[in-house]
Amino acid sequence: MVNAQPPKNMLTVRDNRTGKVVDIPIQDNSIPATAFKVLKAPRAEGEREENETEKGLRIADKGFLNTAVIRSEITFIDGDAGVLRYRGFPIEQLATKSSHLETAYLLIYGSLPTASQYKVWQDEVLHHGVMHSDAEQFFKSFRYDAHPMAMLTSAFAYLGSYYSEANPSLQGQKLFTKGDPESLAVMDKQIYRLIGKATTLAAMAYRVRQGRNFVTPPTGLSYTGSFLYQMDHLGEENYKPHPVLEKALDVLFLLHADHELNASATTVLQTGSSLVDPYSAIAAGCASLYGPLHGGANEAVIRMLISIGKPENVPGFLEAVKRKDKVLSGFGHRVYKTSDPRSFIVRQIADEVFRVTGKDELLETAMALHHEAMKDDYFVKRKLAPNVDFWSGLIYRAMGFPLDFFPVLFAVPRVVGWLAHWRQMMLQEGGVKIWRPRQIYVGPGKRDYVAVDERVAEEGPRLTPSPVVHSG
Ligand code: CMC
Repeated sequence: MVNAQPPKNMLTVRDNRTGKVVDIPIQDNSIPATAFKVLKAPRAEGEREENETEKGLRIADKGFLNTAVIRSEITFIDGDAGVLRYRGFPIEQLATKSSHLETAYLLIYGSLPTASQYKVWQDEVLHHGVMHSDAEQFFKSFRYDAHPMAMLTSAFAYLGSYYSEANPSLQGQKLFTKGDPESLAVMDKQIYRLIGKATTLAAMAYRVRQGRNFVTPPTGLSYTGSFLYQMDHLGEENYKPHPVLEKALDVLFLLHADHELNASATTVLQTGSSLVDPYSAIAAGCASLYGPLHGGANEAVIRMLISIGKPENVPGFLEAVKRKDKVLSGFGHRVYKTSDPRSFIVRQIADEVFRVTGKDELLETAMALHHEAMKDDYFVKRKLAPNVDFWSGLIYRAMGFPLDFFPVLFAVPRVVGWLAHWRQMMLQEGGVKIWRPRQIYVGPGKRDYVAVDERVAEEGPRLTPSPVVHSG
């Protein structure tokens, strides 16, 4: 007897071009995009040959709006409920009870460390903070006004040049994918180095612009305390970072440590999928984070607040946003559609920091902007709420970090998340598949080369190179 009811865990798809029906298995509420490749059709009249209908149906997803590219055990976000969990632990619990370095262990290895595991981990990470003295020349080679993210991005790639033993191009492409103890040891050593040196590289990018001598990472301080020392130390005998500011920065680091497959983590995996060394992959992630839609938003928020100037100018600014002339930086998120749980914690930290540093003069404008936007139909309808970047910049400003250093304060802790995803992918079942998306080709069909004196000029903006004005 034929079972008329198809199984429940199947998606039944009918291709009306051919009448072909396929059952596609649903696993974990997802379907494999490759299952659609069996839906082939003869080219219809007028259909472009480049659509390649005979080769199977393609899935179009500009901007990865609904495409899952990996199975992951690291971070879970429920964007409608405003939930964020690292390895199952709610972010609110970790922010109050854990530290950035303990959470880093959790994100990378999957469980909270015991006291002895944590000691080994902390020792390894802090032990790997020291940079070769050659690096001083590297930082000094930048222009006096170089953006610190340009320096940090380059510095991660530069760092890789020290470790030929960690380069699959030199040691064999299975260096990080074997999963045996020897391979894991090489991998974990690079993890200690990258997390340990991220603060050192960031502090060097800061100090070179201030004209300060570089300092060796101290002993006896926490990860975040060591970072503040490396930034701030000017020869004091018993330098100790302010405990409230150290704690605040540590929680901010923890909140920024991972956020599943955002643009930069995806970039790290995309780059890492070619089996390049982890330093190059992290440099690529850092470059992606720099953009104002991602980690550069904390800097963009402050520039926006400065341009608004005072609370009275907020309504005019919001009108410009609604006309799409401007963007309200620090608002909106691809995944969160009610609230970003990190933003509430950041808001509380802001108050703690302001009690020490005094209030930032832009706070009133920020609060007016927040207040007006949250009740405005434009933002309500589009479910736009403050994200982690809306308040964090005000804290960094109050703590005295330069404005263009803010994305660095996002990148340093995010190295942890990038490495967690990279390690997971290297060790995933079935090995690493190179990430090679498809495209929908809409360019010219086949045409023949035209000799130069027979060509008709194409004119117009975008169709020809733009003229530039030369100075000097
Ligand atoms: N200001 C004004 N309008 C906005 C904003 C904003 N910040 N964000 C989204 N919109 C509008 C957008 O124009 C669109 O309107 P319409 O439907 O009329 O075309 C609608 O809301 C939907 O937005 P979208 O562009 O489809 O959303 P997306 O998921 O592609 O982009 C985003 C997400 C974060 C890039 C975007 O919200 C944005 O540009 N925000 C400002 C930059 C920012 O704060 N980034 C930090 C993100 S959180 C930290 C991190 O992960 O890096």
